[in-house]
Amino acid sequence: MKKTILTGIRPTGNLHIGHYSSAIRLMLDIQAKGDYDNFYVMIADTQALTDNAKNVDKVKNNVIQVAIDLLAAGLNADKCTIFIQSQVPELFEMSGYFLNLVTVARLKRNPTIKEEIKQRGFENTLPVGFLTYPVSQAADILAFNTTIVPAGDDQAPMVEQAREIAQSFNNSYKNVFILPKIQLPDAKILARLPGTDGKIKMSKSAGNSIYLCDDEAIVKQKIMNAYTDPNHIKVSDPGKVDGNVVFSYLDAFCKSEHFEKYLPEYKNLDELKDHYKRGGLGDVKVKLFLNNVMQELLSPIRIKRAQLENNIDEIYEMLFANGKKMQKIAAKKIQEMHDAMGINYEKFKN
Ligand code: TRP
Repeated sequence: MKKTILTGIRPTGNLHIGHYSSAIRLMLDIQAKGDYDNFYVMIADTQALTDNAKNVDKVKNNVIQVAIDLLAAGLNADKCTIFIQSQVPELFEMSGYFLNLVTVARLKRNPTIKEEIKQRGFENTLPVGFLTYPVSQAADILAFNTTIVPAGDDQAPMVEQAREIAQSFNNSYKNVFILPKIQLPDAKILARLPGTDGKIKMSKSAGNSIYLCDDEAIVKQKIMNAYTDPNHIKVSDPGKVDGNVVFSYLDAFCKSEHFEKYLPEYKNLDELKDHYKRGGLGDVKVKLFLNNVMQELLSPIRIKRAQLENNIDEIYEMLFANGKKMQKIAAKKIQEMHDAMGINYEKFKN
């Protein structure tokens, strides 16, 4: 069986270091290992519209932004196929058949959806398309013979739903679909990065994100203003590293080489943390170190981004060509579905 990897990302804003630490790092790792037959990355615009129907501009403008962010961060268009979901309309047809195989009760049990409904205040205004997006995501996954879905743990219920749909279709008609598996990031810490204000998640609305496209001065400013330990007032005070954003980011991004280069008095992060906990280490020193670590990661991305911004037409061309390629794969799958269901009327003619 071929190893086909597919992941998706909603184009609702520029990508930030939270995306980098989880999703993008996972994609780069897969690309570097090269252990796959196909590697697809979908920019999920139609999924983003399920809670942005009146906000098409936001989604539309961010499609190219996300493509640029992904390429700037190191995805290589020769090694992975980046495409736009709405350019594969076959996915809607597939979702249509899948919708008949899932109950409303099942959709309402999806823990990720439950959480998102709460966050969005959708209790009485829930769009049908939003409730059913896991079904359309099942189509995203199953249309291209995906075997592996690299994603954060919030996506586990979606992959589970895709497996159930695949199984249900296979049992009801014929074996058409492969059951996909999720691939979670290695360490728990890669799963979620807090916002610069200490809130659990980075989000555009909270204004607590460090974006891959932020310039050097903005990144520094955001780091210098980041939430640490509110009781660590004097340098001599003992400080907490848990819930301290600066240390969470260091956990995610700093390596021992960074100490050699920027802070040779310490061997590693454990030593730095111990000193902070004992007292005698000021926030500014740790923040300046974090700034060095982050700038080292972000400057090459920023440079690449500036080049890509001059080639927007080419990027769109690449996305369109990939959309056509993905359409062919999905159309073949739909043909297999029609055959399995016996609604292949063209075969009824003599
Ligand atoms: N639901 C994913 C998110 O919120 C995006 C997505 C859409 C996706 N289609 C997918 C992820 C298929 C993995 C596979 O980010």
